[in-house]
Amino acid sequence: MVFLNGKFLPIEQAMVPVLDRGFIFGDGVYELVPVYSRVPFRIDEHLRRLERSLAEVRIRNPYTALQWKEIITRLIGEQAFDDQGVYFQVTRGVAKRDHAFPKDVEPTVFIMSNPLVNPPREVVEKGAAALSAVDYRWLRCDIKSISLIGNCLLRQVSADAGAAETIMFRDGVLTEASASNVFIVKGGVIRSPAKSHLILPGITYDVVVELAQAAGMPLEFAEISEAEVRAADEVWITSSSKEVLAITELDGKKIAGMEELVNVVNGKKPGEEIEVTLLRGGDEKTVTVTLANRPASIE
Ligand SMILES: Cc1ncc(COP(=O)(O)O)c(C=O)c1O
Repeated sequence: MVFLNGKFLPIEQAMVPVLDRGFIFGDGVYELVPVYSRVPFRIDEHLRRLERSLAEVRIRNPYTALQWKEIITRLIGEQAFDDQGVYFQVTRGVAKRDHAFPKDVEPTVFIMSNPLVNPPREVVEKGAAALSAVDYRWLRCDIKSISLIGNCLLRQVSADAGAAETIMFRDGVLTEASASNVFIVKGGVIRSPAKSHLILPGITYDVVVELAQAAGMPLEFAEISEAEVRAADEVWITSSSKEVLAITELDGKKIAGMEELVNVVNGKKPGEEIEVTLLRGGDEKTVTVTLANRPASIE
């Protein structure tokens, strides 16, 4: 069951006219909200970012935040699975092809929810490989635009090599990855590019920043050179579906610090037990888990 322009219907019946500006120009914006145990994570933040993207491209937001939430909640309830990725997009609508904006056109709204696909446990524990590329996208990467051909081409660079992501540099400076934000750690300091028109303001980026600040970890928003990324102790990518994923290899070379990375949380070592608070069915639940053994070196 999906949502299209006010109606809930099976995806096979959801049709958009070929003159929709989303189809013709990629003229629209989107969001993807992760849903755990049927509870959307940071929905208000995603809706605020949608509102901002819409304003930046001058498309009217057809719904209030409350209406968006009602529709999304109903759609989540229609699915047979608990952990979901709710994708929603708004295009400028259907009009005779002309670059200039049409007048009095209703935006097209499409929402679907699929099973949430996170990286497999093994990849989360061992880390993933990435490739680098020159960031040749446009200069408004802060807008979550559905025109993703640049991101798709750049993602394919790493996909062709069987790697998880493409980390991008503009004029030798780190921006982000093809569908995620990037953090590095050097000498115990967590560093990431400051928010600007060159990167998407990630909701997961904000979560990482909040957690680091709450834990009193040194954090710096800075211009990060390509050399600094290559010499980092750790590299992480973050996104709503990848969550926080360690990059242990860049362009075939190991990220130095990852070789001897030991999983230490709050002074606990592998094999020891820690208490973790999880959100399950909307309720916080504290469970005890045993810290996994990290490989001393990553194959
Ligand atoms: C280019 C780009 N950067 C960063 C992100 C991460 O954003 P979020 O954490 O909100 O999913 C995404 C997510 O799709 C993205 O496409």
